[in-house]
Amino acid sequence: MSIDFATLHEKIDTPALIIEHSKLDKNIRAMQELSASAGVRLRPHLKTHKSVWITHKQLKAGASGVTVAKLSEAEVMVQAGIKDILIANQITQSRKLHRLKQIHRQIRLLLAIDHPIQIDILHPLFVQETKKLEVMIEINSGLNRCGVNPGEKLIELADRIIQSGFLTLSGIFTHAGQVYAAHDAKEVKQIGEHEGKVIEKAYNALIKKNIKVPTISVGATPTVKYSAFNAVVNEIRPGNYVFYDNIQCHLQSCHPQDCALLVLATVISQPSDSQVIIDAGSKALGLDRGAHATQLISGYGLLLNINGQIERLSEEHGIIQLAQRQKIQIGSHVAIIPNHACAVVNLYNQYYLLNTDGAYQIMPVDARGCTQ
Ligand SMILES: Cc1ncc(COP(=O)(O)O)c(C=O)c1O
Repeated sequence: MSIDFATLHEKIDTPALIIEHSKLDKNIRAMQELSASAGVRLRPHLKTHKSVWITHKQLKAGASGVTVAKLSEAEVMVQAGIKDILIANQITQSRKLHRLKQIHRQIRLLLAIDHPIQIDILHPLFVQETKKLEVMIEINSGLNRCGVNPGEKLIELADRIIQSGFLTLSGIFTHAGQVYAAHDAKEVKQIGEHEGKVIEKAYNALIKKNIKVPTISVGATPTVKYSAFNAVVNEIRPGNYVFYDNIQCHLQSCHPQDCALLVLATVISQPSDSQVIIDAGSKALGLDRGAHATQLISGYGLLLNINGQIERLSEEHGIIQLAQRQKIQIGSHVAIIPNHACAVVNLYNQYYLLNTDGAYQIMPVDARGCTQ
């Protein structure tokens, strides 16, 4: 059944962040099925939705634990009763370690590590703990951000962790985020397979030194359908798939009808027959147009009920160029699939969770702004 956005638009203030409930459920189910068919655990990344309610949904559907990017995101989730969290980031600011220790004492916490100095930084606060701190070594599979290459440095780091006495080496993980600059579906497949091969190489390098780690984790939404099927991989960490977005449509991870997140806006003016202005600007849609400098997505979101393109944004205005000259009713609604769901969610305090019968509920973006 198609959603009646015009009726919803009469009931709520715009710009508004809408979740189509049935699509959200479908996306959660489909990724759980993919992980089951690959025989791997699913540890979804929560930075996309930052919502306690969606986290519980993912766990109920079968996720084995969750991933966050930030300490403050982890704190929100611990408060909400989540018991198994990977912080897929290195935490090196000494003053944060007290907070980290509090989480460690309450739940199963896993922390990213990719440099021996991080062991020295963690040492003073964690050496006296009765429970060892679990760490996952980050492997670089081509994003060239954090992460060690699967060579000497990996072995040295693994040895240092094992010898530390206060850390447990629980696994290795990688994220082939360079996929967001892929030109076509073929390149996405290559990067996905490469992500699997690199983590396999790291796993084998450790095995050669008699180091067997329990968790071999990969994932980005576009890559998991390839990397999850690598023989050594046993965990995936996609995040964006709960909503999908216009960038994922361009990468052929999904179709526009799979996108569960929308921005609902209002036409505030029409300066000419070829342009309309909406009340959603960069503070409602974000400025993200994809990762590839030579192949930027044209426009700032996919328009669902107007034939045209969002050509320009100022902070509070979106400027739509219409495909044909026409009169658009000032005050009417515009439904938009955002380019990058994860970035857009962080701009809003709340979601409108919309059912197919048109009923809606307001849900908080619990970890909005949790960047510290
Ligand atoms: C370390 C890590 N793992 C997993 C993910 C999830 O990737 P995606 O948003 O493509 O699903 C991200 C995304 O930024 C990440 O940084």
